[in-house]
Amino acid sequence: MRGFFLQKHKNTMENKQIVVSGIRPTGNLHLGNYFGAVKNFIKMQENEKCFFFIADYHSLTTHPTPNDLHGNVKQVLVEYLAAGLNPEKATIYIQSDVPEVTELYLLLNMNAYIGELERTTSFKDKVRKQPENINAGLLTYPVLMAADIIIHKAIKVPVGKDQEQNLEMARKFAKRFNRMYKTDFFPEPYPYNFGDKLIKIPGLDGSGKMGKSEGNAINLIDDEKTIHKKIMRAVTDSGPTEKNQTPPEPIQNLFTLMQVVSDKSTLDYFVDKYKNCDIRYGDLKKQLSEDVNKFVAPLRDKINEIKKDDEYLKKVVKTGADKARESASKTISEVRKIIGFKSF
Ligand code: TRP
Repeated sequence: MRGFFLQKHKNTMENKQIVVSGIRPTGNLHLGNYFGAVKNFIKMQENEKCFFFIADYHSLTTHPTPNDLHGNVKQVLVEYLAAGLNPEKATIYIQSDVPEVTELYLLLNMNAYIGELERTTSFKDKVRKQPENINAGLLTYPVLMAADIIIHKAIKVPVGKDQEQNLEMARKFAKRFNRMYKTDFFPEPYPYNFGDKLIKIPGLDGSGKMGKSEGNAINLIDDEKTIHKKIMRAVTDSGPTEKNQTPPEPIQNLFTLMQVVSDKSTLDYFVDKYKNCDIRYGDLKKQLSEDVNKFVAPLRDKINEIKKDDEYLKKVVKTGADKARESASKTISEVRKIIGFKSF
C-alpha cells in the first residue's frame, strides 16, 4: 500500500512542468513588478514545479563592485516572500549558493561562439552604456542564464518581452549540446507569459510602463506620505473638453492604476465624472493615493516584519539551496557522464 502511494506521488510530481525564473537583485519591487511578474509566480507555484532564484552573479556583470551585495539580495528576497512567494511550494534560492550552475556555465561556454554572443541586443546595449567595462561576463550573460534554466531542465520560463532573445539563446545552447553529444538530455525552454490577462501597469509620468529606472514607480515599501506625494505629482492635462471623449494616455494611466487597486464603484464614479467633464483631478488623485496605500500597506508591513526575522530568512535560504542543489547536481553528474568525464 505504502509503495503504491509513493509511486503515485512520484507520478504526480513528475507530471508537473518545471519552471525557472531569475530575479536581478536591483532596486525595490514596485507595483509594475507585482502585477506583471510576482502575481504570476504566485499562481505558478500552485501547480508547477517552480524554481525562483536571485541572480546575484548576473548583477556583477554590470556592477562588479557593489556597495552592499548582501543587502540587495536580502531586500529582494524579503520583498518576494512578503509578496507571496512560498518556500514550501517553490524552491527559492540564491544563484551563488548553487555552484553546479557555474560548472554548467563553464561547460556551455565551450560551445558558445563569440560571434553569436556579440550579436545579442542586450550585449550591444551594454557596450554602448558601459564602454569602460565590457567584460567577458557581460558577453557570456546569456550562457549563464541558459545554465540557470537548463540545470533544472526547465521548459517554462516566465519572463518579460525583453528576455526573449536570451531565451532563444538558451534554446540554442540546449539544442547544440544535444546535437554535439548525441543525446536528448536537455529539453528546450520557452518564455512563458500569461497572454492578454496581464495588466501592464503604467508609470506616473504620463506615458509608458512603470519601471525602476524610469523613476515613475510606486514601490511596495513606499510609506503613505511618499505614495501621496508621487501620485499628486502624476502627469495630467487641463481636463476633458468634450463629453464622452476618450481620455489621453496620462489620464487613462491613472484609471488603469485605479482599476487594480480600487473598488469597481470608485473607478466607475471617476470615469463617469470624466465623461461628464466635471472631474477634478485632485479628487481623483487623492482617492487613488488612498487606495494605493490601502493596497500596499499590508505588503509593506509584511516586508518590515520578514526583514527583521533573520532566523526565518536563514532557514528559507538554506532549504532553497539544498533543494536547488539536489536538482542541479543530478543534472551536472549526467552532463559530466555525457561529455566523458570519468572518475579514477
Ligand atoms: N536576465 C534576467 C533579467 O534580467 C534575469 C535572469 C537570470 C533570468 N537568469 C535567469 C530569468 C533565468 C529567467 C531565467 O531579468
